[in-house]
Amino acid sequence: MPTPDIMEKLVALSKRRGFVYPGSEIYGGLANAYEYGPLGVELKRNIQNEWWKTFIQRRSDMLGLDSSIILHPKVWEASGHVAGFADAMIDCKHCQTRMRADHLIEDFFAAKDHAINVEGKTEEELDAIIRENKIPCPVCKKFDWTPVRKFNLLFETHIGIVPEAQSKVYLRGETAQGIFVTFKNITNSMRTKLPFGVGQIGKSFRNEITKGNFIFRTLEFEQAEIEYFFDPDESDWKKLFSAWQQSMWDFVTHVLGVNAQNLRWREHSDEERSFYSKRTEDLEYRFPFGFKELWGLAYRTDYDLKQHMKYSGVDLSYVDAASGKKFVPHVIEPAVGINRLMAMVMIESYVEEEGRVVMKLPAQLAPYKAAVFPLLANKPELVALAKSIYDDLRKDHMIAWDDRGNIGKRYYAQDEIGTPWAITIDFDSLHDQTITVRDRDTMQQERIPIAALRQFIADRL
Ligand code: GLY
Repeated sequence: MPTPDIMEKLVALSKRRGFVYPGSEIYGGLANAYEYGPLGVELKRNIQNEWWKTFIQRRSDMLGLDSSIILHPKVWEASGHVAGFADAMIDCKHCQTRMRADHLIEDFFAAKDHAINVEGKTEEELDAIIRENKIPCPVCKKFDWTPVRKFNLLFETHIGIVPEAQSKVYLRGETAQGIFVTFKNITNSMRTKLPFGVGQIGKSFRNEITKGNFIFRTLEFEQAEIEYFFDPDESDWKKLFSAWQQSMWDFVTHVLGVNAQNLRWREHSDEERSFYSKRTEDLEYRFPFGFKELWGLAYRTDYDLKQHMKYSGVDLSYVDAASGKKFVPHVIEPAVGINRLMAMVMIESYVEEEGRVVMKLPAQLAPYKAAVFPLLANKPELVALAKSIYDDLRKDHMIAWDDRGNIGKRYYAQDEIGTPWAITIDFDSLHDQTITVRDRDTMQQERIPIAALRQFIADRL
């Protein structure tokens, strides 16, 4: 079970060991922005690769895509984001603090041990709650608010170098729209047969003010989204929806190694559900700051394709090759942030036991698969043999090298970053061509031939 102060510990460990650094730190930092360090990029990429293998590579009904971050601005008008993708914000007139109105209310009542759900409430309703309860500014403690106002979350930018000729565009607020606008090209170029899905991983951008729960919610994030297209007359959407729920659950529990007790499903209420969705369920994880959305599953119907038909004037219907039936497919969308998966995996893996900190990551997610240690750094023959093993393993895996301090300290350092196996080359190795492999979780050591090492690792990944 995570310790209560696990977030502070993880933030500190992340910075100290090269997982995640505060954004633009030398300039005083940039709120809700982070840099993924040498170990963080490996962990994040390993999660992405597992997602891709599970949902694209190993399924015959799925295709991959990498669409643009900057799409035609009309895309976001058609999708409804320009009009409706907004957070209700409030400003303190006294100290200029700007915050989300729902967060202000939730935090105020949480401090009184009173949970309140304001999802889906209008600006007027939020305003009324704040005024009826005289909720003060959490920073300056005054009660001097502007009315609650909506702020659009899309990041704007401009194409063109001449100011007068510039045209406004947006950084994508979700990867999903890239799939819808590419739908026609995909069906024309690939042998597709419904039901089939298109998945992609890429950066999305949201101009939100957040509570700063580490990498849980950031200005830019790595979305992994699938649009699963089907004929609503042929496929029962409820069955497809349940099948996707099962696939998402299996991925989180089996591939990412998360304890099922820390997961739950929560259905969105009518007020909370996005305008495009007929049903939405969130797979939630028990973060140290409460159960929060990990992975959303929405039945978007034919809303998006029909909107793009209307705005572009292009027919995006699907024609069934066998029956000739022409129609606009419906879609179910599993959408997850890889960064959120990474935060969950780090929280879930973090263990303090027997005087050590261990990140018990599933081996396939670990930044380094193994660490290689020559027993003594000042014995050239040990170092030479260790280097040859290190170079050999590095052809296939990320491998750490450590020849500093004593073996105990080296184990400690690798446990903390989740390296599953530590390989020590000692004097016996020079004579009998064997090495010791120490297991991160059991701390047991076994002696195996150098020639068997590659297979040893391969068998366990
Ligand atoms: N496409 C759903 C989301 O971005 O949350």
